[in-house]
Amino acid sequence: MSLVQPSQADNAARYKAKSDDDVLKDCAEIQGLAAAISLKILYTHRVKPKTIFAGSFLGKGQRETIAELVEEYEPDVLIFNGTLSPLQQRNLEKQWRVKVIDRTGLILEIFAERAQTKEGRLQVDLAMLEYQKSRLVRSWTHLERQRGGAGFMGGPGETQIEIDRRIISDKITKLKAEIDKVKRTRDLGRKSRERVPFPIVALVGYTNAGKSTLFNTLTDADVMAKDLLFATLDPTMRRLTLPNGHDVILADTVGFIKNLPTQLVAAFRSTLEQVSYADVILHVIDVSQEEWEEQRKNVISIMHDLGIEYEEDERVIEVYNKIDALDDEVTSTAAGPYVADKKIPVSALRGEGLDALQDAIQKLCLKESTPFVIEVPVWDGQAAAWLYEHGHIVSREDGEENISFHVRMNEANCGKFKQKFPYRVLQE
Ligand code: GTP
Repeated sequence: MSLVQPSQADNAARYKAKSDDDVLKDCAEIQGLAAAISLKILYTHRVKPKTIFAGSFLGKGQRETIAELVEEYEPDVLIFNGTLSPLQQRNLEKQWRVKVIDRTGLILEIFAERAQTKEGRLQVDLAMLEYQKSRLVRSWTHLERQRGGAGFMGGPGETQIEIDRRIISDKITKLKAEIDKVKRTRDLGRKSRERVPFPIVALVGYTNAGKSTLFNTLTDADVMAKDLLFATLDPTMRRLTLPNGHDVILADTVGFIKNLPTQLVAAFRSTLEQVSYADVILHVIDVSQEEWEEQRKNVISIMHDLGIEYEEDERVIEVYNKIDALDDEVTSTAAGPYVADKKIPVSALRGEGLDALQDAIQKLCLKESTPFVIEVPVWDGQAAAWLYEHGHIVSREDGEENISFHVRMNEANCGKFKQKFPYRVLQE
């Protein structure tokens, strides 16, 4: 039997200190994460290790119990909600004769499936390589086939072929160079996006909160209309026309997960950078989850890391999603003290509450905008119509020759107006 290392003793103390309630929450969370990539849970087994063993993590008795469960349920993969060293992982696989993945491995798989942008995919590949460099076993999914991955060999029941670590290191170097290139292109892309004359509304939230569902529900009509202008943009960005006729760009982001593996922090940051320059930040919260308050706090702390002062940031709207899954009483109290335009209960699935949400977005976009005075000749109905469509007309004074519009618009729309029409635009 192996010796317990000091760091692992700490680890064991941490496990012991967990209350039953915490353990149940952890179980619910890991099940949610597994479900996020469509894994079917056959059985959940809870263990409270008194000691953590360097070679196998669990003690003999616990390992035997699990071996029996593996025999009974015959799973394709066993998910271990903790961090395993490569040695522990290998030994457990050998004893249980099933592929074992730990929490980090599972999260990597989720990111691999969800990464949508080229940079995101490269970052995930890099994280996978770094994670697997020390493991050199076959990734348990069909990743290599799907994404042309690194082609790991070995695995349970297979002969362990020693792959030259240098090959992996070379791949890592190449990937890093490619990521640098994509980053440079992205910076160019961002510049051109800044010229896109619409405010950006970013969706953030814990994984599975319903961001993509909301994204699709809100933009459905536009997708049908096949928006060629944005076909070249990131697939996670779509145009949304608000009820007042103003356009915004809705940007979906990758879901947040607590205790993100370090290998993924970079990938995560790069996708989230767009949040810091958004005009509106929609924080989608799944209030049907018991642990929603904890998830909300996790998201807020990651936002702080990104330099966003969440509590003071005027751009944030909290979207309390999945109210269809709650009973009425909970719905009215779930969001805590009601704050108009700042906390909006919705059901992205059923399309409920979306009017209030769009209204709040509209107000925020207008607030972000600047007041201008623009004189338009009375005969130019086209320019006047354009202003009505793209700005918020605060008042108008009709003169003999000119109409003087007091209008609120964002800077981008103002620039667009100046390009299209030869009239003087004064800032109020
Ligand atoms: P990540 O991509 O992991 O970040 O997830 P996401 O936040 O984009 O969540 P997604 O939209 O994929 O939704 C997750 C699950 O929640 C799906 O099964 C949805 O059908 C479900 N869901 C989303 N919105 C609602 C809702 O309003 N009510 C209910 N009952 N389920 C919802």
